[in-house]
Amino acid sequence: MATLVGGVTTSHVPAIGRAIAQGLQAEPYWKPFFDGYAPVRRWLEAEARPDVVVVIYNAHGLNFFLDKMPTFAVGAAAGYRNADEGWGIPQLPPFVGEQDLSWHLIEALVGEDFDLTTCQEMVVDHAFTLPMALLWPDAGPAVPGAGHWPVRVVPVCINTVQFPLPSARRCFALGEAIGRAVRAWPSDQRVLVLGSGGLSHQLDGRRAGFINRDFDLRFMESLLHDPRWATQFSNHQLVEQAGTQGIELLMWLAARAALGDQVQGVHQHYHVPISNTAAGLMAMAARG
Ligand code: DHB
Ligand code: FE
Repeated sequence: MATLVGGVTTSHVPAIGRAIAQGLQAEPYWKPFFDGYAPVRRWLEAEARPDVVVVIYNAHGLNFFLDKMPTFAVGAAAGYRNADEGWGIPQLPPFVGEQDLSWHLIEALVGEDFDLTTCQEMVVDHAFTLPMALLWPDAGPAVPGAGHWPVRVVPVCINTVQFPLPSARRCFALGEAIGRAVRAWPSDQRVLVLGSGGLSHQLDGRRAGFINRDFDLRFMESLLHDPRWATQFSNHQLVEQAGTQGIELLMWLAARAALGDQVQGVHQHYHVPISNTAAGLMAMAARG
């Protein structure tokens, strides 16, 4: 059976793509942010060594627009192209899909009564591409024939863009089911779960720029020692605490739930702000 090696949870901000494209990683504004990723990259390379990444993220109106908004969607394509809507990385190699795991996940999740949208064609935005570029910065440019990702991917999309959104409780249950399905995948592959979103931020309205460090740090701590902590809150309570876009922390919760009861913290980093966002990062090893 496949091995679930662990999880990485990280914030995403389109401006990161521009910073990478312009080589600004060592600039004073960016350095404290980019430096956070080096220990996670070392862990991935030396210990976790994933072959496949299940990327749990929220699409921002690119692949799904407001007229059709699935609550949960799983990609089952042979490949996924970056079509970021904003300050995206100008060029990125296409992502190669792990279709066998996609269909295995879809079967397992529908079998556990999750009503999914399955996507045999899908483009991905900054929430998907930037965490990948931060974890595998050497994947290289999409010059024909050059550059490739060292891992295959399965995208899992959670709607945090258009209300009503799935509850923290439901996202946790989805993550648990993803974890069970990955561990039951008949394969010798090593699988990492990546959760992309948050932490606290609000991009519009009267509270634009809102950041809640105390809440973020409490949430990060809970993932290590009390992973169901955030499931006590309604989405309105989470928005109150983390901001309208801070609700993207649901991706962290689903990714954490996939890892099972016990995890070992590998690394964590918190830097405020990057653009309008409190940028958090955690790596956790799964324990059996
Ligand atoms: C920002 C953060 C996001 O999560 C996002 O999707 C777009 C922009 C920001 O802080 O700029
Ligand atoms: Fe976002």
